[in-house]
Amino acid sequence: MKSFYEWQSGLVNKINDINERLLKTIETEQKYLYSMSRYTIEAGGKRFRPLLTVLSYEISTDKPYENIIDLAAGYELIHTASLIHDDIIDNSSYRRGRKTLSEKEGINNAIVVGDYLFAKAYELGSRYGKEVSKIMADASSRLAEGQILEAENIGNLKMDIHTYTEIIKNKTAHFFAACSEGATIAANADVQVSHNLREFSFNMGMAFQITDDILDIVGNEKAMGKPTMVDLNHDIVTLPIIYALKNANERDRNKIINILTGKSREPDFKDVFKEILFETGALDYSFKIAKEYIMKSVTNLNNIGKSDNVNLLMDLALIVIDRINESGVI
Ligand code: IPE
Ligand code: IPE
Ligand code: MG
Ligand code: MG
Repeated sequence: MKSFYEWQSGLVNKINDINERLLKTIETEQKYLYSMSRYTIEAGGKRFRPLLTVLSYEISTDKPYENIIDLAAGYELIHTASLIHDDIIDNSSYRRGRKTLSEKEGINNAIVVGDYLFAKAYELGSRYGKEVSKIMADASSRLAEGQILEAENIGNLKMDIHTYTEIIKNKTAHFFAACSEGATIAANADVQVSHNLREFSFNMGMAFQITDDILDIVGNEKAMGKPTMVDLNHDIVTLPIIYALKNANERDRNKIINILTGKSREPDFKDVFKEILFETGALDYSFKIAKEYIMKSVTNLNNIGKSDNVNLLMDLALIVIDRINESGVI
């Protein structure tokens, strides 16, 4: 199995083009705004969404991928803006291996930089016409809907899988799907190819968020470049917790509830929490669900037929699952 970095190394030219376009787009005479935006862009990140955009385009047309770099950069800007705002909400001080913008430059500035990146993103999207612009805008609206549904359910120990699924669909999977959909429309793709690429990205996005939620509990902070146990610290109920609350014995269930509600926060509460989630099978269960989404995404790709770029997406889908074994190396 390829590592994510090996996977990415075959795409250096594309990544460089994306990064160059990102830096070009955020240029402004307002030097401080530029330097803050640049700080966040240069922190890197996996560039998952723009790469999905570019690869979906290439699968859909023989035209050169350079045509879709604006759209790819636009999606990355929305994603980055949403992370800047998410870190304010989560009070996080560390992201992409460096200080969050809010930690470094203060919350007020971070809010404005996020807004600036959103604005720049829509400008890039508008270059592809109304239909693509609408897909981009809708993906962004859904992201907000997902984030607010999540916020409404903070500390809700009765939250069910249905609500969890709605949250991650909106905040993550539809956004992945939009990257592919926008690209296929810009490419004037065959309807079946467009549908399968969209579904592929959606299913992979579901798996990606579930693995992120598992890694929030068991991941390696250094490997991920962001803190773990953020969800627990903010009483955000995720799939492993839903499962554990339903299936743990009464003693363990009470322990988790006490930890979640902040009634019991002994120094080792994180280890206790991790152990219970492991023992109840909550982590295995969540991983199983993530794998099911990946299986669906593989079927979507098989419907398209073989090509080098389809193979690259296939590898990516498997890497999303493998990152659990690697404790979040991507
Ligand atoms: C983080 O996304 C938010 C989630 C959907 C889990 P990424 O894990 O893609 O973040 P970067 O872009 O690599 O930093
Ligand atoms: C929210 O997901 C990020 C968005 C999709 C906006 P998370 O809160 O799980 O993302 P991380 O873990 O902070 O990267
Ligand atoms: Mg977060
Ligand atoms: Mg997370």
